[in-house]
Amino acid sequence: MSETDNMMAIANAPSTDGVALRSDDGLCGKTAFVTGSAQGLGAGVAQGLWDRGCNVVLADVNARSNEATAHAIDADGERVQALHVDVGDPASADESFRAALERWGTVDILVNNAAVTAARSLWQITMDEWDDVMSVNLRGVFIMSRIAGRHMRDSGGGRIVNIASLAGQMARPSGAHYAASKGGVIALTRVFASELAADGVTVNAVAPAIVDTPMLQAIGAERVQQLTRQVPVGRAGTTEEVAALVAFLASDDAGYITGATCDINGGMLMR
Ligand SMILES: NC(=O)c1ccc[n+]([C@@H]2O[C@H](COP(=O)([O-])OP(=O)(O)OC[C@H]3O[C@@H](n4cnc5c(N)ncnc54)[C@H](O)[C@@H]3O)[C@@H](O)[C@H]2O)c1
Repeated sequence: MSETDNMMAIANAPSTDGVALRSDDGLCGKTAFVTGSAQGLGAGVAQGLWDRGCNVVLADVNARSNEATAHAIDADGERVQALHVDVGDPASADESFRAALERWGTVDILVNNAAVTAARSLWQITMDEWDDVMSVNLRGVFIMSRIAGRHMRDSGGGRIVNIASLAGQMARPSGAHYAASKGGVIALTRVFASELAADGVTVNAVAPAIVDTPMLQAIGAERVQQLTRQVPVGRAGTTEEVAALVAFLASDDAGYITGATCDINGGMLMR
């Protein structure tokens, strides 16, 4: 089936027993800007939004693998754009967002996914490392959300989805900078949500725990096994599962959800 046929099929889903099936979640034709998209969860989220009919802007500091991911998602480049961005740098963030607006006319969805981590103890973390983690994980979310939030506010609405982490909700004996940045993301989610609620912009966070990505593999196979044993459902999450939650929060159906942090952790935190 061609790309156009596929889109028509989504829009004109069949009905059964005379009852029209609702097939349009409002994502088809929307433009989504996904940070940290070159690999892992960001690539999975970009793919998930593309599969649901979005134009997808892939924005990452790693230009080469970002281009490769964009090509893997949409070889023709019809509904995909790869941009270089350092989310912690306001000029770079501005420039990439402007390039997205030039190509697509608007941005309806922002997914703040870019992050760095280092599983180091309190006593090992250097101040440079603290600043690096905060710059990408927290300052980056603030910068990108302000740029996109202003645009969405002025254009009548939008969706911001922040990728937080269980590390920002529960204590672990390492990665103080990472945990603090993710706790900060959850707080920023609420502040942006309340500031933008009346403008039709929802702002929510998702908090995964253990998702099978290069970031997870980087902590070492033994530690991954140790962590996975603690998951009540008995396995790591998949990028597709997180992407589905992000897509829901970005959809029309989620218009009454804002300021929320949605747990997606295999039961590691039940509340
Ligand atoms: N993998 C997990 O188990 C897990 C668990 C909880 C939360 N998360 C969160 O999910 C998100 C994605 O994690 P992942 O596992 O896919 O990580 P990853 O390391 O595989 O991917 C992170 C991406 O961010 C990009 N990036 C780094 N610095 C950047 C910058 N300054 N500007 C733009 N892009 C930058 C990297 O190039 C990379 O492509 C992160 O926010 C992470 O904290 C992941």
